[in-house]
Amino acid sequence: MKRVRNPKVAKTTARKATGANPLWGGRFASGPDALMEKVNASIGFDKELAAQDLAQSRAHCTMLVEAGILTARDGNAILKGLDRVAREIAAGTFTYTAALEDIHMHVESRLAELIGEPAGRLHTARSRNDQVATDFRLWVRDAIDRLDAQLGQLQRVLVDRAAEHFDTILPGLTHLQPAQPVTFGHHLLAYFEMFDRDRGRMRDCRARLNESPLGAAALAGTSYPIDRHRTAKLLGFTGPTANSMDSVSARDFVLEFLSACSIAAVHLSRLGEELVLWASPRFRFVRLSDAFSTGSSIMPQKRNPDAAELVRAKAGRIVGALTGLLVTMKGLPLTYSKDMQEDKEPTFAAADQLELCVQVMAGMMADLTVDKEAMLSATHEGFLTATDLADWLVQKLGLPFREAHGVVGRIVRRAEERGCGLEQLTLADLRLIEPRIKAEAQKVLSVQAAVARRKSYGGTAPELVRKSVAAARARLARRSKR
Ligand code: ARG
Repeated sequence: MKRVRNPKVAKTTARKATGANPLWGGRFASGPDALMEKVNASIGFDKELAAQDLAQSRAHCTMLVEAGILTARDGNAILKGLDRVAREIAAGTFTYTAALEDIHMHVESRLAELIGEPAGRLHTARSRNDQVATDFRLWVRDAIDRLDAQLGQLQRVLVDRAAEHFDTILPGLTHLQPAQPVTFGHHLLAYFEMFDRDRGRMRDCRARLNESPLGAAALAGTSYPIDRHRTAKLLGFTGPTANSMDSVSARDFVLEFLSACSIAAVHLSRLGEELVLWASPRFRFVRLSDAFSTGSSIMPQKRNPDAAELVRAKAGRIVGALTGLLVTMKGLPLTYSKDMQEDKEPTFAAADQLELCVQVMAGMMADLTVDKEAMLSATHEGFLTATDLADWLVQKLGLPFREAHGVVGRIVRRAEERGCGLEQLTLADLRLIEPRIKAEAQKVLSVQAAVARRKSYGGTAPELVRKSVAAARARLARRSKR
C-alpha cells in the first residue's frame, strides 16, 4: 500500500524516536513512528495501576525466589528496587514517557536503572498479558471496596432521614400522576433497598473476579516451576484462575463491574431527578442546602439543583463505559488483543464519577430540609384516597372490587365537577351515587388513615416504616461487621 504523507504525519514523524524499544525491540531495526507511539501508549492512564503493578511484581518476585527460579540475592535486590520505585511514584518524582508504553514497562525499566541486571530477571515466567489482567482485577477489587463503603454511607443517611420522616405524608405517584398517599420515610427506604442490591451486585462481582490470572504468562502457561497458588495468596485472591487462555482474555469482570456501576448510577439518577422535581417551586417538597445549590449569573433569585442534575446526568457516561467495552470485547478472538487496552480509561472514569455521585448524593440527602406542609397539602389534590373508598365498598358492602371501582370513579367525577376533594363531598353527595354508603365511609378518606391502614408486609404505614428503619440499621451493622 502506498503511504499517503499528509503534513501532520510528516511533522510527527520528524519527532519520532530513533531507537528501537528497549524492552521488546530486539527484532526491530528502528523505532516506532511518533503516531505509532501515540496510539499505542497507555501510560497516560494506566499509571493508575502503579500500586497494583508493584504489589503484583513483589508477589511474583517472592514466589520466584521461593520456587528456586530466582536467587534470594536477586530477589532481595528486586524487592528493594521496587520499594524505591514505589517511593518515587508516591513522591511524584517518577518520570513517565510514551516511549515506554505502559506502567509495566515503566516499572521494569526504572528498576533496571536502579538495580541493574537482576531487574531483567523479574519478568521470568510472566507476561504483560497476565500482568495487566492481574493489576486490573486488583484495581477493580479496590474500587468495589471503596464504593461499598460509600454506598453504605449513603444508606446510613437515607435511614436517618427515613427515621425522621416515618410519618411524613406525601403523594405517592405512578406515571408522575397522584396515586396513593405514602410516607416520606417509606419513599426514602425504597432507595435504601436499591443501594443495598447495588452493594450486593458489587459483592457478587468481587467474589467472582477474586482469582489470580498471574502465571498464565502470555497465554499458555509457562515451563518454569512457578506456584500460582502462592502468588494468588500473596495478593489476597482466593486462588489462581483455572485456564491460562481465559486468564489473559477475560474482561467480563470489568463488564460485570461496569454493569453494577451502571445500575447504581441509574438508581442515583432517579433519585437525582426526584430531587430536581421536589426542589422545584411547583412541588416545594424539599429545599436543598446552600452547600448543594447554585445561583445564576444573570437571575439573582435563582437557586438551582445543579448537583442533583449532574448526578442525574452522570449515568450517561457510566452506562457509556459499559456499552463501549461491551462493543470493544464483542468478537475478539482468544487470547489477548491490544483492543483490550481500551478497557481501562472508561472504567477508571466510570468508577471515579460513580464514587463522586454517591458522595454528593449522601451530602445532599443529609443536608436537605423537608417541607412537610407542602407535602401534605399536595395530598389534597388528585383524589389520593379513591382506592380506600373502593376498598370500603368491598369490605363493608361486599361489592366486587371491579364494581366498587366504577362507583368511586363516578364519585371522583362528581368531586371534579364540584372542584373539591373526596373528603369535601357530603354524605348526601356520596349516596346519590351509592345509596348504601354510610357516614363511616368518609373516615377512610383522610390520607392519615390511608397510610396507617397500609400495613401489609412492605407497606407504607408509619408503624411499618419504623420497623423497617430498625431492620435497615441492623442490616447495615451486620454488613459492616463482615
Ligand atoms: N498496556 C497493555 C494493556 O493495557 C498491557 C498489556 C500489553 N500486552 C501486550 N502483549 N502488548 O492491555
